Amino acid sequence: ISRALSSSTVRNAAIKHVTVIGGGLMGSGIAQIAAATGHSVVLVDMSEDILKKSTKGIEGSVRRVVKKKFADKPEVSTDAASVVQSTDLVVEAIVENLKVKQSLFSSLDKVAPGHTIFASNTSSIPIADIAVSTTRLDRFGGIHFFNPVPMMKLVEVIQAPETSQETFNALLDFTKALGKHPVSCKDTPGFIVNRLLIPYLMEAVRLHERGHGSKEDIDVAMKLGAGYPMGPFELLDYVGLDTSKFIIDGWYQMEPESPLFSPSPLLNKLVSEGKLGKKSGEGFYKYK
Ligand code: NAI
Repeated sequence: ISRALSSSTVRNAAIKHVTVIGGGLMGSGIAQIAAATGHSVVLVDMSEDILKKSTKGIEGSVRRVVKKKFADKPEVSTDAASVVQSTDLVVEAIVENLKVKQSLFSSLDKVAPGHTIFASNTSSIPIADIAVSTTRLDRFGGIHFFNPVPMMKLVEVIQAPETSQETFNALLDFTKALGKHPVSCKDTPGFIVNRLLIPYLMEAVRLHERGHGSKEDIDVAMKLGAGYPMGPFELLDYVGLDTSKFIIDGWYQMEPESPLFSPSPLLNKLVSEGKLGKKSGEGFYKYK
């Protein structure tokens, strides 16, 4: 009986209390699934307004997608320092900016208990560069979720050179307790998924720029010929053209000689015109 109980709860797992910092798109999803799987969760953001929005969004999403085993919803707070005093894991999902992430972790490092593991959900910043702002390099790793978090099964768990095996295992176990499927990654640009996906998306844009295929035909070709659920231009519009440009520009700076990372004039033009994809109403396609 006890085994049956423990398999459906996280009572015996190392990570029970989770603090999610950043109540935006990703953070609210991470807090939602952690609460729905029986973790005790506090969601932190700088702004009360955003926390109100996240709570509303989570309530709506819980009704839609989560088979409710637990009634728990995350608590919310604007004071990270007071919250982390009783936490096993901090998952950071704030703005994609190295300085801002470093300053957050450096202040949390001073107040969080020694055993607390820190993890970043960054898509493009090396985990090691963020971790150096703390004194717990061995208890610092990456935990990279996919949007929309409640729907997407995969989590990339990143072991930076200084991340201890114990920390890495705890993060793998945590993602399994969330009902996700983890894969192990090294601290390299794009980890696995984006390292393969972004060059493919850019190659689709370049093919179109050369006049070798219409956006519509390229999208249909990859859906019906390669079995992808979305074509590359649809996916770029969904991800956001600014986000895609930010990632490819960062990699281009790191490895300017790699043809996989070379910038696209068409992508740059659309971003400069404010055509950022679905979220702005227009990207490669127009949205109502
Ligand atoms: P977002 O802009 O929706 O949310 C960021 C939130 O962090 C905002 O609510 C903001 O108020 C809050 N914030 C900023 N600085 C803060 C601070 N110092 N303390 C507390 N809260 C703070 O951004 P999104 O899309 O959720 O991305 C967050 C992170 O997740 C980024 O590092 C991004 O690279 C990563 N990521 C994003 C994915 C995506 O598809 N959008 C996918 C996987 C990772």
